[in-house]
Amino acid sequence: MGNITLKTVNKSFGATQVIPGIDLTINEGEFVVFVGPSGCGKSTLLRLIAGLEDTTSGTIEIDGRDVTGAAPAKRGLAMVFQSYALYPHMTVRNNIAFPLKMAKLEQGAINKKVTEAARVLNLTDYLERRPGQLSGGQRQRVAIGRAIVREPSAFLFDEPLSNLDAALRGTMRLEISELHQQLKTTMIYVTHDQVEAMTMADKIVVLNAGRIEQVGSPLELYNKPDNLFVAGFIGSPRMNFVSGQAANSFNSSTMGIRPEHIRLSREDGTWKGLVGVAEHLGSDTFLHVTVNGVGTLTVRASGDFPVNHGDTVFLTPDAARIHRFNENGQAIRGA
Ligand SMILES: Nc1ncnc2c1ncn2[C@@H]1O[C@H](COP(=O)(O)OP(=O)(O)O)[C@@H](O)[C@H]1O
Ligand SMILES: [Mg+2]
Repeated sequence: MGNITLKTVNKSFGATQVIPGIDLTINEGEFVVFVGPSGCGKSTLLRLIAGLEDTTSGTIEIDGRDVTGAAPAKRGLAMVFQSYALYPHMTVRNNIAFPLKMAKLEQGAINKKVTEAARVLNLTDYLERRPGQLSGGQRQRVAIGRAIVREPSAFLFDEPLSNLDAALRGTMRLEISELHQQLKTTMIYVTHDQVEAMTMADKIVVLNAGRIEQVGSPLELYNKPDNLFVAGFIGSPRMNFVSGQAANSFNSSTMGIRPEHIRLSREDGTWKGLVGVAEHLGSDTFLHVTVNGVGTLTVRASGDFPVNHGDTVFLTPDAARIHRFNENGQAIRGA
């Protein structure tokens, strides 16, 4: 249950093609994240899977069944909307029970499912409250509860955490990951935040202008980005890119090196540079170092590395961690 296959799925709004033809397989039990910049088509793709939008061409299969023309309710999927989609006048219990009441399930079965969902989501003590009496995180869990009781073959999330503050986002990220480990149900999660993608996904689908740039596990994308887009999108701080003559000496059109793969020294190294801004995070310090003929590079130093604005430092990219790209922005693999 929860295998989803897209075959050359294409979507246009009027004359505007938003999804030019996507092939993708999502396996049972996977946590798949669609990530990409705003406007790249993530929500559209999710809504096509949910059946909230019609495909222009191509087919969508769920567990081997062609659902391309099927109504959302016939697909066995549950979309988790943001917490503000809760009914404010209903208790948590009735909010969670709502889809079951609509489906005319008998009360005993409804109670059983609501009790179980509340247990999984740590909402048992809050069932008689109204959404207004809950924290943002609890409200988000109620929204998830409403999806859980339907026992879908897959959960679809569209940026569910984007309205929460940073601390709560971190907590909810963990909670959703733990929920996935408990339920082992397929989850498709849309976000523009590569940190969410990296921390939650089994499989990341990087989208750019309606196209898939790369599909892979978080570490595959981090270690072996196929192209400049993925290299620049995955990883924080962003990968440094060096082009021109400095890149030629690395046999590439563009050479990439992540801030954490540059050795920093007071004495010697490949590049001599001047420290501009130093961002002290405590655990790490991010230095912005300007190197003549190369550009300004971000370097990750340990938090206790003594450094000040205006210092001269030497940088050496770790030869094993260099990324090389050709003139089309595609990764050059091998020696
Ligand atoms: N109903 C619609 N009519 C016309 N254009 C749309 C519609 N929905 C989305 N789009 C366009 O499709 C593109 C992708 O949108 P969307 O899937 O919402 O992106 P994302 O979720 O990645 O931010 C955008 O350019 C958007 O303006
Ligand atoms: Mg969106």
